[in-house]
Amino acid sequence: MASLNPVVFLAVVVICFIGPVVGDENTTCSVAMFGGDHGAYLACIAQFAHQCNWFPSPLAGLYSYQVWNGYDGFWQNGAVLETMANFIEFAKHQRYMSVVKGSHRDLYSLMEAYGPYPSFDDMGWYGLSYARIYELFGFQDFLQTAQDIFDWCWKTGWDSSNKCEGGMWFDNNVNAKVAITNVQMFHVAAKLYRLTNNTEYRNKSEMIENFLFANNFINSSTYLMSDGIDLDTCKPSNTVGFTYETGVLIGALSEMYRLTKNESYLGLAENLASAVIDYNSNTTGVFTEKNCDPDCDDDAKMFKGIFVRNLRYFMDTVNNATLRKKYQNWMEFQIQANLKQNMCNEVPISKCYIVFKDGPPSFKVTGPVFSSNWNGPFDYGAPMQQTSVLDLFVASILPGTKCSGVFCNYDPRIPPPKPMTCSSRPCPPGEDCCAYKHKASYTCCDKSQKCNKQGICV
Ligand SMILES: *[C@@H]1O[C@H](CO)[C@@H](O)[C@H](O)[C@H]1NC(C)=O
Ligand SMILES: *[C@@H]1O[C@H](CO)[C@@H](O)[C@H](O)[C@H]1NC(C)=O
Ligand SMILES: *[C@@H]1O[C@H](CO)[C@@H](O)[C@H](O)[C@H]1NC(C)=O
Ligand SMILES: *[C@@H]1O[C@H](CO)[C@@H](O)[C@H](O)[C@H]1NC(C)=O
Ligand SMILES: *[C@@H]1O[C@H](CO)[C@@H](O)[C@H](O)[C@H]1NC(C)=O
Ligand SMILES: *[C@@H]1O[C@H](CO)[C@@H](O)[C@H](O)[C@H]1NC(C)=O
Ligand SMILES: *[C@@H]1O[C@H](CO)[C@@H](O)[C@H](O)[C@H]1NC(C)=O
Repeated sequence: MASLNPVVFLAVVVICFIGPVVGDENTTCSVAMFGGDHGAYLACIAQFAHQCNWFPSPLAGLYSYQVWNGYDGFWQNGAVLETMANFIEFAKHQRYMSVVKGSHRDLYSLMEAYGPYPSFDDMGWYGLSYARIYELFGFQDFLQTAQDIFDWCWKTGWDSSNKCEGGMWFDNNVNAKVAITNVQMFHVAAKLYRLTNNTEYRNKSEMIENFLFANNFINSSTYLMSDGIDLDTCKPSNTVGFTYETGVLIGALSEMYRLTKNESYLGLAENLASAVIDYNSNTTGVFTEKNCDPDCDDDAKMFKGIFVRNLRYFMDTVNNATLRKKYQNWMEFQIQANLKQNMCNEVPISKCYIVFKDGPPSFKVTGPVFSSNWNGPFDYGAPMQQTSVLDLFVASILPGTKCSGVFCNYDPRIPPPKPMTCSSRPCPPGEDCCAYKHKASYTCCDKSQKCNKQGICV
């Protein structure tokens, strides 16, 4: 037998990365069904794992305590719907469509799920996702609720005193104006104007735009964005924000270009994208959340994916082959980094540390699972970090990709919930598990706490 020469060996390694998942005895994803697009295939297996391990339906968990709600909170359940909708659109399939379609809740129900005073950015994710779902699939109730969310946020949260040119408050405490709320509302308003022609949305998008520029959120020499402003001076905090803030702004500027055809929006978006990528790239070129990786909290674990999601909107808006190729190559590099350093896909999958923080898996547990730092090493799988990488895979799907075959419609019934106990190691490393003996359920204690003999985190 001839030994493999290095070139052949390399080819084999690459094929393994994009080949079918070994060990998953009945996989519903293949490279062939997406006409060879490996971003779509990777998205397919990452989403399959996400749904099997944590989420028959992201929203179901919000309405049934500790069941199917593996995210850290309310907002991520809304934000992931946009990922799922984009995947359906970019690869032209119907996988998990019933989950997307079934995710509609009216404004009142969303407020009930969250508690009395949601911060406006948390509601903003539902506004963005619902507007996108309407844009792609035309479900009228999603458009209505996207408008209800925007209108409620505006009515409750816009500073009409005009101090610092207005702006959205962070929450009902009215003591902070931060980037994320304002870029989200900018994005939603511009999109709602495009979807409805209601000039109220256009006017409001202009008011938010004015607020952002009047307060110099964007540093004109570095193009890095501040995460907030000083309310006394109306000056930027100059604390560089997280990747997702600029990401959502890039999405908003893409919308503004579509409305105005003013090229300066695209130039600005490109400068912002370059600045965020430079600032947050590790020495190895891997995209990391500079403000927190490798120790990001459960919120920040999802941010990089939101940046990339919006970068794709920008690429589609510009539709310039040179620019598309530049960012496509960048995404490909990030994908390879994740596959090599940040993935666990062992056989059996139980060899991978997977956290089921708020409820048991409803289907057979499956891989691949990804952790939070794209630079690796893999530490544990959980839905926030899975979604971030899923957004990357979805954003990388080449235009024109089309699904064919029976599994393009894969959309399993949502099974009834099952109880789980602490003996299944459901909590992240360093967090004690506390069992409620009589209720056959559990909670994960904060890292600073321990579970006492009465089963209470203290
Ligand atoms: C897996 O295989 C079983 C038995 O062949 C079948 O009943 C089930 O529908 C399959 N599941 C998927 C996800 O294809
Ligand atoms: C908005 O107006 C434009 C231009 O008149 C038109 O092409 C488009 O169909 C309108 N959209 C809606 C949702 O009414
Ligand atoms: C939008 O703003 C313009 C000019 O500032 C104003 O004339 C118009 O009435 C506004 N439209 C709405 C719907 O508020
Ligand atoms: C922009 O960033 C640079 C470099 O951090 C800083 O020196 C400068 O003060 C910032 N500009 C403004 C207007 O804040
Ligand atoms: C385009 O936008 C820039 C920046 O907001 C503005 O200065 C310029 O006047 C706009 N151009 C047109 C034709 O409206
Ligand atoms: C960035 O790379 C350096 C050198 O490889 C490494 O020590 C560091 O941990 C990395 N940071 C992150 C967040 O991965
Ligand atoms: C596409 O983008 C590149 C790089 O920004 C630029 O040099 C080129 O002129 C653009 N092409 C078109 C047709 O706009």
